[in-house]
Amino acid sequence: MIKNICCIGAGYVGGPTMAVIADNCPNIQVNVVDNNILRIKQWNTKDFSKLPIYEPGLGEIVKRCRGKNLHFSNDLEHNIQRADIVFISVNTPTKKYGFGAGKASNLKYVEECARQVAKFAEGHTIVVEKSTLPVRTAEAIKSILEASQNKNLSTFDVLSNPEFLAEGSAINDLINPERVLIGGDNIDSISILNEIYSQWVPKNKILNTNIWSSELAKLTANAFLAQRISSINSIGAICEATGADIREVSRAIGSDSRIGSKFLDAGPGFGGSCFKKDILNLVYLAEYYGLKEVADFWNSVVLVNNWHQQRISKLITKKLFGSLSNKKIIMLGFAFKANTNDTRESAAIGISKDLLAEGAFLHIHDPKVNPDQIANDLGIPQNEANNKEIFSEEGRWYFVKDIYEAVKGADAILVITEWEIYSKIDWLKVSKLMRKPSWVFDSRSILIPEKVKESGLNFWRIGDGS
Ligand code: NAD
Ligand code: UGA
Repeated sequence: MIKNICCIGAGYVGGPTMAVIADNCPNIQVNVVDNNILRIKQWNTKDFSKLPIYEPGLGEIVKRCRGKNLHFSNDLEHNIQRADIVFISVNTPTKKYGFGAGKASNLKYVEECARQVAKFAEGHTIVVEKSTLPVRTAEAIKSILEASQNKNLSTFDVLSNPEFLAEGSAINDLINPERVLIGGDNIDSISILNEIYSQWVPKNKILNTNIWSSELAKLTANAFLAQRISSINSIGAICEATGADIREVSRAIGSDSRIGSKFLDAGPGFGGSCFKKDILNLVYLAEYYGLKEVADFWNSVVLVNNWHQQRISKLITKKLFGSLSNKKIIMLGFAFKANTNDTRESAAIGISKDLLAEGAFLHIHDPKVNPDQIANDLGIPQNEANNKEIFSEEGRWYFVKDIYEAVKGADAILVITEWEIYSKIDWLKVSKLMRKPSWVFDSRSILIPEKVKESGLNFWRIGDGS
């Protein structure tokens, strides 16, 4: 009988996933540990609206369970020691140096976890890969654990249980998953994990596979999803050139049940911490196994995404007479999608850098992202002089809280994140405040074109060739 779970990594996956397990398994003590002291302090904050990550519905669950059977701590040793199951939920970023730099996953955090588990675990421990990992990582984890087995009489089994939640809808995805995937070769351990999930997930949604299929299925799911976005964005560019409309094309192809209607929204290019990294990981794997054509195929998904983001910055510059020097541009949204405060790989980062390099005065608004995060992502402090080597024309950025105040004298507004508040903007009011001729660029198709145009503003939206 499972009494204690330990999850290493209190991030976007570890925090919400463990909160939902704790909520559904009141007899299990769930301990989320992290070596980041500040992050744990934030998870233990008294104000549930100030948890380290913003995710709708998360605060309520943490409020219900924290201190009862959900605990956040920096004490890895004690919590690993008493755990029956250890989930590894740490980050697996792309390697920046050495062999495979720029493509392969950096597994140093996962390796560190395996070593910690090997050192502190007592009795039998099921180690679950929750992080997204290259195929055959379980082999490395197993060999680290096995090396310690004889020393302290502990025994281990390794399972793969990748996470499919999307940010912004994480709690709903965790409560009502389309599937839970558990890969492994020990039937007893698989049954134990199956049993935990079956407390709230229908049994027919729990899939069991071998461990390598499970690892590969996670990378493949993200690659397929990202591929759809690059595909639809590439067709959006053709729409703009030919007079077609990407929303109509999406609707027409999405009603074919073989294609399906989801994930066909053209946008500023996919962001988020995982799509790019996971595809590059797949590319690396294909290259490693000598499958060059396969590697090239998947790499093109990332190349199209990069090209597409640059295409948007170039287009804005062109519409504003080829120069952004001394022009005020309002960027609405910085998060990589709505309903999250996560900015990792957000299209806003590359597009902002391009606009700043053209000399723009960029005024950035986002309801959930804080200005320090933006400064960190752009590598430039707010308001201040910039790196002249990169920005020849004095581009600079400001964080704004009041959209109507910000648009005074602005030349253009660019919608980057599909936050609902932006679809409710009063365009007549905005138009009166902007400097003419002024532009609105909607990279998310959330504005009603007629309303913007009627207010006397020039309007561009993604994939609209009309
Ligand atoms: P994250 O960066 O938000 O969180 C990872 C946490 O692990 C950090 O708080 C870090 O301090 C901690 N950590 C790293 N090494 C540690 C160690 N040795 N000991 C203790 N703590 C350690 O990352 P994330 O977004 O939660 O992603 C985690 C994994 O889940 C990645 O492999 C990612 O690809 C995968 N994933 C992410 C998402 C998502 O939506 N973010 C969805 C599905 C899968
Ligand atoms: C994605 C997957 O959807 C999850 O299943 C997976 O678990 C997760 O990656 C992961 O492994 O990290 P996430 O990145 O949180 O989740 O968010 P998505 O909703 O997939 O959006 C990713 C990016 O694609 C965003 O920038 C979003 O704006 C963009 N997108 C999405 C579009 O441009 N168009 C669409 O139709 C859908």
